[in-house]
Amino acid sequence: MQQITSMLIHTNYNLRFHNTFGIPAVAERFATVHHPEELSVILAAAGNPQDLLLLGEGSNVLLPDLVPGLVLLNRIQGIDIVRERPREVIVAVGSGVNWHQFVLWTLRQGLGGIENLALIPGTVGASPIQNIGAYGVELKDVFEELEAIDWRTGKKQRFTAEDCQFGYRFSIFKDKELARKFYLSKIYFKLTKGHHHLNTSYGAIQELLDNWQISEPQPADVAAAVIEIRRAKLPDWRQLGNAGSFFKNPVVDRDFFNNLRTDYPQAPSYPVDEQSVKIPAGWLIDQCGWKGKRIGNVGCYSAQALVIVNYGGASGQEVLAFSEQVAASVLDRFGVVLEREVNWV
Ligand code: FAD
Ligand code: EPU
Repeated sequence: MQQITSMLIHTNYNLRFHNTFGIPAVAERFATVHHPEELSVILAAAGNPQDLLLLGEGSNVLLPDLVPGLVLLNRIQGIDIVRERPREVIVAVGSGVNWHQFVLWTLRQGLGGIENLALIPGTVGASPIQNIGAYGVELKDVFEELEAIDWRTGKKQRFTAEDCQFGYRFSIFKDKELARKFYLSKIYFKLTKGHHHLNTSYGAIQELLDNWQISEPQPADVAAAVIEIRRAKLPDWRQLGNAGSFFKNPVVDRDFFNNLRTDYPQAPSYPVDEQSVKIPAGWLIDQCGWKGKRIGNVGCYSAQALVIVNYGGASGQEVLAFSEQVAASVLDRFGVVLEREVNWV
């Protein structure tokens, strides 16, 4: 173990409890960051910035047996209201804050905007990376701006929503050019106060609110409905290792989809624009017979085929090989390429 100022740098550190797949990957070196100021020390010690891997809560990564270089666990804290208008509030949040704890904080303050994103695992700092989304809302809908530190220069830089180029499970930070070059340190959110624009149309949210006889829902009611739906569909990663949807839902041409519908009249889709639709990858995988199927330590979850699970003892390589078999059978049967949502490090 090496000590730099107040930071401990561990060697050969087991990441088993820092990724939701529960993969016992070993980091060559490992440190926890609590303050942005510590980064300059780290940058000086790290040598090659390409050898740095930033981890929030590891809920969207698949790790190999050995992670070379330095792994930094982001635990930068702090939630502050920085601007308040009659109907709107700007909140600055440290990137290491747990996302769901932040959602709960907004609900306690009576703020609206991220109630549909309740119970998504991970940190606030990772939320812009893939523009997290669920139940009709995406991070970009409440995003104001962010502060990031450039690994290469150590300088702080601000990114507006336009700079981030948000798309479906995409931001500029996923682009090859910028991937792993910035440490997102603080995120600013624009939330509603008093007059909320609630989105209850997606999935079973409205149905649950009706069952609960809530006719004038508040953000906390919508969050409660989302939490109930998510608990029924997704496995608890503490019991069954997983990283949520393993693949993105593929976007295809409407003509292609109409052809598919002649063979599969029940095929579901979500509209994207005039030319294209999204097909739920879970449906494609399910049709190929993978739902509930297990090979060795890995399988497709029995209630949601898009969630690949580690039954215990799997390596990252084993999960990857399983996912490649799944993707190959979808390509073979439907001619559709599945793109990974999970980051293979
Ligand atoms: P990590 O997995 O630690 O990191 C993900 C990537 O972002 C890595 O490449 C990492 O290097 C990079 N990164 C992390 N933090 C920073 C930072 N501060 N600066 C720069 N780079 C950074 N996602 C959805 O969009 N919608 C869902 O509904 C959803 N449901 C899920 C359900 C389950 C059960 C699970 C396990 C996952 C789900 N996910 C979902 C995926 C995951 O929760 C999100 O992608 C989340 O934002 C990842 O946060 P994290 O802190 O764990 O990131
Ligand atoms: N389906 C099946 N069989 C399955 C799974 C799904 O037929 O085994 C079909 C069903 O018709 C179902 C449809 O697929 O109605 C869609 O499934 P679901 O409502 O579970 O949503 P999803 O499209 O699989 C997406 C996101 C989730 C997000 C939910 C809710 C992606 C890749 N996934 O899942 O995000 O929580 O919608 O908005 O876009 C994540 O990104 O990790 C994630 C969990």
